[in-house]
Amino acid sequence: MSDPTSLTGKHGLIVGVANKRSITWAIAQAAAAAGARLALTYPSQRLEENVRELAAKLENPVVAPCDVASDEQIAALAATLDAEFGGLDFFVHGAAFAPPFELSNPFVQTTREGFRIALDVSTYSLVGLTRAVAPLMEKRGGGSILTLTYIGSQRVFTNYNVMGVAKAALESSVRYLASDLGPKNIRVNAISAGAIKTLAAAGISGFSSILQVYRDRAPLRRGVDQSEVADTAIFLLGKGARAVTGEIVMVDAGYHAMGL
Ligand SMILES: NC(=O)c1ccc[n+]([C@@H]2O[C@H](COP(=O)([O-])OP(=O)(O)OC[C@H]3O[C@@H](n4cnc5c(N)ncnc54)[C@H](O)[C@@H]3O)[C@@H](O)[C@H]2O)c1
Repeated sequence: MSDPTSLTGKHGLIVGVANKRSITWAIAQAAAAAGARLALTYPSQRLEENVRELAAKLENPVVAPCDVASDEQIAALAATLDAEFGGLDFFVHGAAFAPPFELSNPFVQTTREGFRIALDVSTYSLVGLTRAVAPLMEKRGGGSILTLTYIGSQRVFTNYNVMGVAKAALESSVRYLASDLGPKNIRVNAISAGAIKTLAAAGISGFSSILQVYRDRAPLRRGVDQSEVADTAIFLLGKGARAVTGEIVMVDAGYHAMGL
């Protein structure tokens, strides 16, 4: 029987690499080690050099711009992928953003514009990108789409605020997309990762106190790291998870199972 964790001969798109701490960078490295050829994106010129430096560690990567808030850039990205890969087997979505004000004040003070931006970049982007890449996956007879979420979608974490609302909408979007695209053999899932110190996490006031809660209370009495999320990602992207869709997989040292 073929290795269910192999991605040999597969082409993947990874959106959300900012630096070497990015969860999506760990997934990119694991996917490349499993045999996949990858495209990485950068949202702005400020991050282009970072992403190009990291991509240089991969074999024959494609590097392309994509601000996920732009329909034009999403369409251009899909055209680039079609030209370079002639189709697509998997897509990892790790873009998230909320204006700093929204992550340091009481949720009740959330502004209309902050709400709009957070939901646009962190949630709608999964829908828009999925619509753009689905025809490329159809060319391959199916595909696997994976996004990253946090348990702040279900429970209150101080200062997570509108990002929790965005993640709730993201998890719901996973189920609706899975329903729409299942007949085309395209699967859509999410990993709900435990708290990890990354650039995005640094934007949440008081984040380090959340890390200690995992060490004190999670069944495994520790937090998780990027490589552990990546190992589960490879399972979900590959053949091993061919019957799994519409699912939110908790990779959080068991923290979600606890009451107090
Ligand atoms: N770090 C954690 O504790 C944790 C836990 C659970 C889920 N997540 C989720 O994992 C994902 C990756 O985050 P991370 O923690 O690796 O941090 P990160 O900062 O490395 O990744 C977030 C990415 O979003 C990108 N982004 C922001 N605005 C964008 C835009 N307009 N267009 C395109 N890209 C844009 C950033 O460039 C960055 O690469 C996010 O969805 C995050 O919410 C993180």
